[in-house]
Amino acid sequence: GKVAVLFGGTSAEREVSLMSGEGVLQALRSRGVDAHAFDTGTKPLWDLKTEGYDRCFIALHGRGGEDGSIQGFLELLHIPYTGPGVMASAMAMDKVVTKRLWHGDGLATPAWALVNSPEAVAEALTTLGAPMIVKPAREGSTLGLTKVTTPEQCAQAYALAAKYDDEVLCEQFIDGQETTCALLDVGGTAQALPVIRIVAPGGNYDFHNKYYGDDTQYFCPSGLDAALEAQIQQMCLAAYDSLHCRGWARADVLIRHSDGKPFLLEINTSPGMTGHSLVPMAARASGMSYEDLCLHILAAARC
Ligand code: DAL
Ligand code: MG
Repeated sequence: GKVAVLFGGTSAEREVSLMSGEGVLQALRSRGVDAHAFDTGTKPLWDLKTEGYDRCFIALHGRGGEDGSIQGFLELLHIPYTGPGVMASAMAMDKVVTKRLWHGDGLATPAWALVNSPEAVAEALTTLGAPMIVKPAREGSTLGLTKVTTPEQCAQAYALAAKYDDEVLCEQFIDGQETTCALLDVGGTAQALPVIRIVAPGGNYDFHNKYYGDDTQYFCPSGLDAALEAQIQQMCLAAYDSLHCRGWARADVLIRHSDGKPFLLEINTSPGMTGHSLVPMAARASGMSYEDLCLHILAAARC
């Protein structure tokens, strides 16, 4: 049948999604799938019905594409789509809801505070301690994030995060090693792919270093101790189940330098599929090409 690759959209991560969508589209076509580009930022969604699409590959990132809203639309149209469903997508988009659920399930995540004013950020700095991360609750690709160490930085950090979302989150900074783990449904069972260890210039894995810089180093195999790698994979599978994810996702984890303890930061339910992206890298390390990865994700499409 006819497959729509949904990409673009109108979120702050549109630019990233254009790259993800292009990659997925080419990969599916190269394997004979009747795939078509569908930019939800410029085309009315209703065309999915009138143009006779049978399935959707969601390569959208951020709000409107990764937060359950388009998933709900596709449910009502009875068009199967890739990745987690409405509820899991909505919960995972919101880092505060995610952290509450993980915390409740005994999964380690850095201490946090939900704030609604610059004063509340300054107050959080005293309770969480410095340094602290201030970020929008529902955003991706590190957009709107500031590392705060002094009370003077709080107002500006709040203003930046609030530009992206009216829900702003303060999180205890974990001085640690950045890692990520992809979860992929293969034949009906979620599996953890090999962990990737990320070393960004100056420890700053920001928007530029994620997509445009060539100085970020990625290690997969991770080089971590095998027991720690297995622990992270188990933790990420538990994090995926905790939010009722399905299809695929990618969880981000920091390993604290001081004691080697892993902390879950977030889970992405429509992870990047760009040339610099992590899930394709982990797939490749396990012997799966980018094209096969796309076919696996598509095969798990549901509604
Ligand atoms: N939010 C970006 C696309 C990612 O997690 O890969
Ligand atoms: Mg993210």
